[in-house]
Amino acid sequence: MKSMFKPLGAAAFAASIALATFPLAARADAASDALVSRGAYLAKAGDCIACHTAPRGKPMAGGLPMTTPLGAIYTTNITPDPDTGIGRYTEEDFARALREGVAKDGHNLYPAMPYPSYAKINDDDMHALYAYFMHGVTPVKQANREPGMKWPLNMRWPLKIWNAVFLDKGVYKEKTGKDVAWNRGAYLTQGLGHCGACHTPRGIAFQEKALDESGSAFLTGGVLDNWFGSNLTGDHNTGLGRWSEQEVATFLKTGANAHATAFGSMTSVINNSTQALNDTDIAAMARYLKSLPAAGGNGNPPYSYDPKATKVTLTRPAATDSGARVYAAFCMHCHGIDGRGFAPMLAPLAGNPNVLEKDASSLINVTLNGTEDLVIQGVPAPYPMPRYAPVLNDQQIADVVTFIRGSWNNGMPAVKVEDVAKMRKSTEAAR
Ligand code: HEC
Ligand code: HEC
Ligand code: HEC
Repeated sequence: MKSMFKPLGAAAFAASIALATFPLAARADAASDALVSRGAYLAKAGDCIACHTAPRGKPMAGGLPMTTPLGAIYTTNITPDPDTGIGRYTEEDFARALREGVAKDGHNLYPAMPYPSYAKINDDDMHALYAYFMHGVTPVKQANREPGMKWPLNMRWPLKIWNAVFLDKGVYKEKTGKDVAWNRGAYLTQGLGHCGACHTPRGIAFQEKALDESGSAFLTGGVLDNWFGSNLTGDHNTGLGRWSEQEVATFLKTGANAHATAFGSMTSVINNSTQALNDTDIAAMARYLKSLPAAGGNGNPPYSYDPKATKVTLTRPAATDSGARVYAAFCMHCHGIDGRGFAPMLAPLAGNPNVLEKDASSLINVTLNGTEDLVIQGVPAPYPMPRYAPVLNDQQIADVVTFIRGSWNNGMPAVKVEDVAKMRKSTEAAR
């Protein structure tokens, strides 16, 4: 194979000199376009932009407030600006921030930054991500905001102890006996996708109770930021048990399928992240999710639709059921008399995994606050769920959600008016 050792042509030779001697910025255009665009793709898979961009702020310049059990903190500027961003980060610094939650100057990051998941990112992908953040992101001069919490809660040293207990170091290791697609799906789901940040219940120290399928709590659902991230295991009622692999893939790609329409914090995941992934990666994640055995659930017998169960009509609202009255007046024209909706634009409420979940946070929250538009390939959803906080009082919302929970054979218990009041209060600032 002589040709491999052929001397470089003059132009290539000049370019290689340039590569060797010019600073990174100049090098990027010549050699690493492909690397930078692979990094951009991975940054989508990691959904960095969702957290590191404030509403109406510049991309990746930080400033988004995040609520943690300790108080508000703000995401930081991760554009390559040398003074206020991460322009002075070496690749090593960058990898340490992502995998270990330690900033360049050595301070520990709060785990609102999902480094326990990003710890799994392999070296190749880390390299591409770094190239993208240094050369593919526009630098923005914008100083970081100090956390809103007061001493002693603002102390960062206890995070070292937290990391010692809860952080699993080491990048993702392929599981033998599983095929390529499963391993790719596991890598993306557990790592860059940080799906567990919202879908795995958290313990008393805010730690995710499991970081991969070896823990029984993994992806069984949990509350973060007033939304219940659904159970993604094979549970028949509350999980993905009734979904095919293809249906899971369609949901991640388009935010909707015959069973569900994305809402709450999942909307931003679909808008900014999963819809941009290629079909192979989406299929791999669907494959992996569908391999998770049933866990969690609501303890009821397997759901089946009963056409004879509750019917609501405008002319015959059950006079004694105020929930049915609210439903008929405000919800029925979209969600339907039979609770089956008009998939995929409108999620069915009958047998809906989120409706069958014990925790009703998402149902109360979406009724109060509606949802951000799902935007697929630039096109916003035609009939987004409206917000009813200004229209319905706490009792009416408790009644209508109770009605939905109890109708169409859903068989779930009533929602308390106190829970609606609490949700109204804690989502007030965002309204
Ligand atoms: C769920 C929200 C969230 C996501 C997603 C997220 N981050 Fe962060 N990130 C944060 C928060 C919050 C901080 C600041 C934590 C603190 O100040 O303790 C942070 C801090 C950082 C820092 C430290 C910067 C500094 O000097 O302060 C880096 C680097 C970083 N993130 C990179 C990334 C990259 C790259 C991605 C995507 C692969 C990403 N982040 C995705 C929330 C997030
Ligand atoms: C920021 C929080 C958050 C992150 C991160 C997140 N999700 Fe979600 N997800 C939610 C919430 C909340 C719901 C419930 C609302 C809904 O059904 O859209 C949900 C719903 C879903 C559903 C529909 C389940 C059902 O029964 O309706 C699927 C599938 C899903 N997520 C997959 C994923 C995958 C895969 C990832 C990682 C790539 C992920 N999610 C990351 C918050 C999140
Ligand atoms: C304009 C049409 C429309 C009306 C009216 C409407 N909704 Fe919705 N609703 C939606 C859409 C669309 C979604 C799916 C999320 C999205 O894309 O916004 C949804 C989602 C929901 C969900 C979450 C379903 C799931 O997947 O778990 C609940 C619960 C809900 N609506 C309750 C209500 C209640 C209660 C009312 C009346 C007070 C109501 N909706 C009125 C359109 C509507």
